[in-house]
Amino acid sequence: MQADRLTRLAVLASGRGSNLRAIAQACAAGQIPARIVLVLCNVPDAPVVDLATSLGLPVRCVDHRKFPEREAFDTALLAELRDTDTEFVALAGFMRILSPIFIREYYGCLLNIHPSLLPKYKGLHTHQRALDAGDEVAGATVHYVVEDLDAGPSVIQASVKIRRGDTAAVLAQRVQQVEHEIYPEALRLCLSGQVSLDGLLSQERTR
Ligand code: GRF
Repeated sequence: MQADRLTRLAVLASGRGSNLRAIAQACAAGQIPARIVLVLCNVPDAPVVDLATSLGLPVRCVDHRKFPEREAFDTALLAELRDTDTEFVALAGFMRILSPIFIREYYGCLLNIHPSLLPKYKGLHTHQRALDAGDEVAGATVHYVVEDLDAGPSVIQASVKIRRGDTAAVLAQRVQQVEHEIYPEALRLCLSGQVSLDGLLSQERTR
C-alpha cells in the first residue's frame, strides 16, 4: 500500500454508523491516506444509510434477505466493490459473517472492529459476557479478517475499566468511545504501510 496516494476505501456497516462517522472525519482531516468510495449496507433502513448520505458519501444497499445463500450475497457485495474499484475494506458494525469467497478476494486488505479484547469473547454479546465473568477491563480490537471468525491478527486494542454498576449498554457506550479512536488509527497504520497482515502473521510465527 503506497502512502503517497489515497486508497479507495469501502466501509461495510449494518447499524448506527458511529465508526463510519469517525473514519469519515479522519479521512476528511487527512489523517488516513484514503477516500471512502462506497458505504455498503445490508439493512436498507439502517441509520447508517442516512448518516452516509448526510456526510456526502456514496451509499449502496445489498439486502441479505434477498439472497438464500451466503455465497450469493457475498458475490453481490463483491460486485459493488469491484464496480467502485474498492482497494481496501473496513467492516464497521457489519452484522453478517463473510464467506471465504469474500475474504480471499480482500485478504490482507480487510479490517474489522470487534467490541472485546480478543481473543476473549469472539462472537456476540461481548459486553454482557465480560460483566458476567467479573472482568475488570473490557475493550475493543481492530483486527485483520481471516477465515476463522474474529481470529485474525490484531492491529490495535484499547481497554476501558469496568465500573461497579455497569450494564452492557453503559459499557458498550464507553467502549465505543475508544473504538472511534482506534479504528481510524488502525486504518492509518495499515494504509500507510506501517502494518500489514503478512508482517503480523510472521511476527506471530516467530513468537
Ligand atoms: C461497534 O460496537 C462494533 O464494535 C461492533 O458493532 C458496533 C457498530 O457500531 N462490531 P456503529 O454502527 O459503528 O455505531
